[in-house]
Amino acid sequence: MELWHIRGGRRLEGACFVQGSKNASLPIIAASIVCPTRSELLNVPQLRDVDAALRILRHLGCSAEQRGGDVYIDSSGLTGSAIPHSLMEEMRSSVIFMGALIARCGEARLSLPGGCQLGKRPIDLHLSALRAMGAEIEEEGGEIVCHASRLHGEDIELPFPSVGATENIMLAACAAKGETKIRGAAREPEIVALQGYLRAMGAEIRGAGSGQITVSGLRPEKRLVWRIVPDRIVASTLACAAAAAGGSVELRGIDPGQFSTVLHFLNQAGCDIISSDRSVRLISDGKLQAVGEVSTAPYPGFPTDAQPVLMAALLKAKGRTVMTENIFENRYRQVPELCRLGADISVSGRTAEIWGVDCLHGTALTATDLRGGAAMIVAGLAAEGETVICDDGHVTRGYERFDRRLRSLGADIYLEY
Ligand code: EPZ
Repeated sequence: MELWHIRGGRRLEGACFVQGSKNASLPIIAASIVCPTRSELLNVPQLRDVDAALRILRHLGCSAEQRGGDVYIDSSGLTGSAIPHSLMEEMRSSVIFMGALIARCGEARLSLPGGCQLGKRPIDLHLSALRAMGAEIEEEGGEIVCHASRLHGEDIELPFPSVGATENIMLAACAAKGETKIRGAAREPEIVALQGYLRAMGAEIRGAGSGQITVSGLRPEKRLVWRIVPDRIVASTLACAAAAAGGSVELRGIDPGQFSTVLHFLNQAGCDIISSDRSVRLISDGKLQAVGEVSTAPYPGFPTDAQPVLMAALLKAKGRTVMTENIFENRYRQVPELCRLGADISVSGRTAEIWGVDCLHGTALTATDLRGGAAMIVAGLAAEGETVICDDGHVTRGYERFDRRLRSLGADIYLEY
């Protein structure tokens, strides 16, 4: 159990680099087994989820180790195609190994993945697309068994732009005979990053970032070096923290365009935003205004992963903000905890109504999930007195040395293990 101790009320001042992206790293680590290759990945965050992905690789017979921000993978020794439940349950993105294993071995055996409890998280879109490409997939009591000795290219129309399904199809399609088209594909920057890595691996793939991706094969490279993009959700969280606590913070090494929807609302709330190519400065006097309506949507819309931290930033914002969560059915788990700080939030179905309060008071909270835990940290920074967040390892799944990063900006926060 981890305990976050936060004394709120301090302004955040200074500059910091944004860590590498978790949600870009994980599919790229899975993709490293699509063909026998040696990958050197740079700027990989040191996180529990990354560690879990590397343990899956080692279980499959690959060598995989992380030294600081560098990850070294040699997938030439891959011997297995089965991932035990104990490894699958550690995170949601373990499901991306399905497409990678099918591409490499023509078979995969794994169980339903774990990850944050955000409501139902089915994988029907993944399975139907892989089946359309020629995979035979059986589901037996939570176990998924895939056989795909002859994958063929296919024209696939996704009814919803699922990030994970798009990634799984991209990986499987690398080994398919003929061309695969993914229509209605997810357009997130992490999809563009995966395409970049696959190209460096020798894949013929184009279109990521638009709604249609085309994959037409792979001529494997033996060795590649790839840099992981910065994490737009961590950048959003730091921006929300500075907005809520007040101060002037420069986030470096990140393209502001990748979280412009978050910056838009912070600007509307009264923060000054000064953007350049690879950095953004946010200046806040800590006295924010409500922003009206915020609805989550697939990229380029407002990201569901930033909904809890923006909510936390707006708890003291004068007036009424209404949030609508359109991606996950249960992504307001942080709300009862935020109310314990004195927040005025009421939830009805997919909608949360937030009335800004004058003051938040620190108290003991329990982290519910990764972004919900991050939201409690943001709120704690804007609360009077001490907030202690009891966290079963949720936040450290996605935020690298977050206590240190916030301390370097002047926050009074420490993490007790
Ligand atoms: C990715 O999850 C991210 N995870 C999530 O980040 C993020 O919230 C999500 O995309 C949306 O942006 C990683 O990249 C590792 P989806 P993923 O498939 O791929 C439904 C975080 O906090 N759906 O786009 O699981 C699903 O139930 C995490 O870092 C189906 O119905 O998301 C959900 O309602 C949390 N059937 C919606 O689509 C399917 O087969 C979006 O899911 C697949 C998805």
